[in-house]
Amino acid sequence: MSVSRPWWESAVIYQVYPRSFQDTDDNGVGDLNGISDRLPYLVDLGIDAIWISPIFRSPMADFGYDISDYTDIDPIFGNMRDFERLVAEAHARGIRVILDFVPNHSSDQHPWFIESRASRTSPKRDWYIWRDAAPDGGPPNNWLSEFGGSAWEFDGASGQYYYHAFLKSQPDLNWRNPEVVEAMQEVLRFWMRKGVDGFRVDVIWHLIKDEQFRDNPPNPNHQEGRPPHEALVPLNTTDLAEVHDVIALLRRTIDEFPDRLLIGEIYLPVERLIAYYGRDLGGVHLPFNFALLAVQWDAKCIQSLIAEYEGALPKGGWPNWVLGNHDRPRIAGRVGKRQAAVAAMLLLTLRGTPTIYYGDELGMPQVDIPGDRVRDPFERNVPGIGVGRDGCRTPMQWDASENAGFSKVDPWLPLADDWQFNNVASLREDVFSIWNLYRRLLQVRRKVPALSVGSYRPRYVDEDLLVYFRELDETRLLVALNLTDHAQVLTFEQGTRGKILVSTGADRDDERVADSVALRGDEGLVIEF
Ligand code: GLC
Repeated sequence: MSVSRPWWESAVIYQVYPRSFQDTDDNGVGDLNGISDRLPYLVDLGIDAIWISPIFRSPMADFGYDISDYTDIDPIFGNMRDFERLVAEAHARGIRVILDFVPNHSSDQHPWFIESRASRTSPKRDWYIWRDAAPDGGPPNNWLSEFGGSAWEFDGASGQYYYHAFLKSQPDLNWRNPEVVEAMQEVLRFWMRKGVDGFRVDVIWHLIKDEQFRDNPPNPNHQEGRPPHEALVPLNTTDLAEVHDVIALLRRTIDEFPDRLLIGEIYLPVERLIAYYGRDLGGVHLPFNFALLAVQWDAKCIQSLIAEYEGALPKGGWPNWVLGNHDRPRIAGRVGKRQAAVAAMLLLTLRGTPTIYYGDELGMPQVDIPGDRVRDPFERNVPGIGVGRDGCRTPMQWDASENAGFSKVDPWLPLADDWQFNNVASLREDVFSIWNLYRRLLQVRRKVPALSVGSYRPRYVDEDLLVYFRELDETRLLVALNLTDHAQVLTFEQGTRGKILVSTGADRDDERVADSVALRGDEGLVIEF
């Protein structure tokens, strides 16, 4: 019996950070033609869809998350023809294209904002969030920017403050204004008409703010060394009940076109996160599940977070998993190179849609960025406490030629030290490499639907071993992950026989197992019974 499922339930998404993927016009920054040129690589790796971080016109104060024209391509990435070619060629190869949609804020260089700030009576005044000063002349309330300092910026000419959840060059749009909503719906339609298959919506839980502009309460658990905005609980600035009405509208817009996917970027605890599936599942299809980005790397913690997440999912809500992105430290940096392989097996054998961050298939490290090469505005505004995001955004390591085959010129961020041997060309030749593990896992996932859409059942857990079943119809798989660097033995019911489908080390693929299996340190196995 086969039920027809939306494409994205069995798909694997690959996040391309376009500045760092492939440069073709020799400016040290990646571009759209670079992504097109590398499509054969992505096909060979075996992914189904790419999500591309913002490529729109932007002053690049936050590297594209500050948009000055939502329906044009920034020249640093190419032009609209390059984009159309990318979509056509991706589709011809069976790869879907997901864009980043950044609706919470624009650039202060966006014509909307320029018009809005021009005067208090501007027709676009109410497109952004303007408030009078507090009686003492200071900001209207205590709201803080995520990138440091007050979230309010005074505009001398018009004598009011505007709100910016991030940089002061990223003013927040007013999503309570129906004209803003309509303009943004048109942006979505524009790209869908160009064939785009979906959107990842930036900071979607931020869209609506308290109508009465009440102060945020102090955070009693704020820790020394954490970003300053965490001194307040963002009660009145994020995750407001009304945000779900706006999201439902975005979803209806998406549904005007067949088979489109809506993903939401949401950093919230599971019990809040799942609300973003929406009433009657009319919210985002996939509220990004970032639980693995912060979990303590032991089997019990991971298993209990899986159980919590699986248990919290609403009926019909499809799970998803993320190990890394352009805002968080690389997985290989967090758990080490050897466990990065185990993490790959976890990501690609959990129930739900996985997103792979570019370069994680090489085990790319978290790179230490020398002070004079720091580019990230977050790090520049809030230096020295480790918030910098440049270290996970370094150029893709293609081969051992100059600049790792990424660019003919010095790249915008330094390469990781290991690029001369840790690159696609060399890892591809090494059957034992993490790259080949990713590829084998992706191949098996395609062939064996139990791995993508089968049920999930935990089997056994202690601090060291994470073991679960994935089952569909007649297929019964067991995934065993050794989260330590020492050997472990896993015993089965007497008489159990199976065969290893994929092993992290590659050398045990097809090995027969009976009654028990020994796992080496840092080893993971997918066994078919
Ligand atoms: C999201 C993006 C991040 C950006 C921020 C502001 O969290 O992922 O890179 O800086 O929004 O747009």
